[in-house]
Amino acid sequence: MKILVTGGAGFIGSNFIRYILNKYNDAQILNYDALTYSGNLENLKDIKENGRYKFVQGNVADKNSLDEVFADFQPDLVINFAAETHVDRSIHVGAKEFIDTNITGVFNILEAVKNDSNIKKYVQVSTDEVYGSLDLDSENEFSEETSFAPNVPYAATKAGGDLLCRAYNHTFGVPVVVTHCSNNYGPYQYPEKLIPFLILRMLEDKKIPLYGDGENVRDWIYVLDHCSALESCLFNGKSGEVYNIGGDNELANVEIAKRILRYFNRDESWIEYVKDRPGHDRRYAIDSSKIQQELGWKPKYNFEQAFDETVKWYLNNPEWIDGVRKKTGVFNPHIDLWKEHKSLDDNKV
Ligand SMILES: NC(=O)c1ccc[n+]([C@@H]2O[C@H](COP(=O)([O-])OP(=O)(O)OC[C@H]3O[C@@H](n4cnc5c(N)ncnc54)[C@H](O)[C@@H]3O)[C@@H](O)[C@H]2O)c1
Repeated sequence: MKILVTGGAGFIGSNFIRYILNKYNDAQILNYDALTYSGNLENLKDIKENGRYKFVQGNVADKNSLDEVFADFQPDLVINFAAETHVDRSIHVGAKEFIDTNITGVFNILEAVKNDSNIKKYVQVSTDEVYGSLDLDSENEFSEETSFAPNVPYAATKAGGDLLCRAYNHTFGVPVVVTHCSNNYGPYQYPEKLIPFLILRMLEDKKIPLYGDGENVRDWIYVLDHCSALESCLFNGKSGEVYNIGGDNELANVEIAKRILRYFNRDESWIEYVKDRPGHDRRYAIDSSKIQQELGWKPKYNFEQAFDETVKWYLNNPEWIDGVRKKTGVFNPHIDLWKEHKSLDDNKV
């Protein structure tokens, strides 16, 4: 079973590779990753000597290099995690790289899969952000039938990739499945994302900045639950279908912040509310009944326990944090963006 994983050196991809290699003795994985700022081979240090794992550095937007990898490896299955993933960057730094990777990259993968009839399945890993925003006071959830309404450049480029997948299945019969998952947490997440970002702020004795009133709600899922859902889609998902994946665990950002403060025995004066992000979606909620009923998947991790384990992981892995700091120069480019939003005067870096 040869699986081509693109973008496997990032947060979810590296957890997925480890999960599959441990579970399937006959799985061989080739990880093709450009190693952008969020790609980190330290995420896969423990399996780099595994004979069933190989890494090739390359960009999904580079068609020739990608085609070579498809020709050499001859995968049975393909799963794409490669993406520009940070909403703030898509707003403040610019959307060009998002378009190159999240749209052109997906186009190149679809073309390669179209030209290789031995490939049984391609899973395109996408996000619930393509559906836009729900009201705080509504009880609606995103289903697979919800119309796309992306509000920020990141989400628009992910939606573009997803629509190409739909068209390639419809027009050419490419065996592609698209997934829309909610916010993940767990080990190896690049610390520009909320949970590791807040943990690291605490470790540095710095205040926790929250956008707006902190009431924006996300449906949090443990990364290994996302990995098992993707496993179901890769092996049993029906070509041309879309599956929504959620943790059934809606929490406001301020609740996440308070949970982290409790862990560090600090009170709420450590929270600083800063000017809201433009286009900030209010609430995401996922109806994952389709994948549960059709593929028999369900999340198994308990939030309280998995959240505590996640915090402990960051506390127990200072070398990993140092490695990220060294690789990206300034520890967290995000901070500069927060500064643009004003306030945080006591948080100079
Ligand atoms: N993190 C979440 O909460 C979440 C939720 C739902 C969906 N997703 C989706 O899951 C996927 C993985 O997200 P993540 O959080 O692991 O992201 P990440 O930023 O941690 O990792 C992205 C990986 O893609 C690689 N990459 C970027 N551009 C590339 C290119 N042009 N060619 C090859 N490799 C490239 C990076 O080097 C990195 O290893 C993304 O498609 C994202 O949209 C993430």
